[in-house]
Amino acid sequence: MSARELVGIAIDTTIDTTIDTSLDITLDINGRTETVAVEPDTPLLWAVRQTLGLTGTKFGCGIAACGACTVHLDGVPTRSCVTPVSAVGGRKITTIEGATGAVAAAVQSAWTALDVPQCGYCQSGQVMAAIALLNATRAPTDADIDTAMQGNVCRCGTYPRIRAAIHAAALALE
Ligand code: FES
Ligand code: FES
Repeated sequence: MSARELVGIAIDTTIDTTIDTSLDITLDINGRTETVAVEPDTPLLWAVRQTLGLTGTKFGCGIAACGACTVHLDGVPTRSCVTPVSAVGGRKITTIEGATGAVAAAVQSAWTALDVPQCGYCQSGQVMAAIALLNATRAPTDADIDTAMQGNVCRCGTYPRIRAAIHAAALALE
């Protein structure tokens, strides 16, 4: 006879004792309002990719060191891998899927014309960083470009084409 039987205690082992601490968090993303049920410290990147299915934003390093996960928060390029979803508040999130307007169109068209991507993995982050740069500085110098893009790593070394494409987009926007 087991110890449980001896003391007459019936234990229901089917009871799930884990505690669900997820919250409903409302996000303003790509012009829509979306509610995600996630843990408050979930990185925005996972809410974007896994919960909302917007997979254009990539996971690279997870420590704000590569730029693959770059989105805009109120137009500011932001590393979504280290941004807790609870810290976003009512700020406007833009991912590569929601990048629209004259600057975004000029960047995308220059990227295509100059055949910038190689493997492509880093490129949505590069494009988001480039759009933010051109929104802030319409005719960037090489130094402006290098400063703005330095946190966006490309393992394929497409940096010369990225720089040329940003200049081409700037020219198209004149
Ligand atoms: S995945 Fe966010 S910076 Fe690398
Ligand atoms: S195009 Fe391959 S990592 Fe940038």
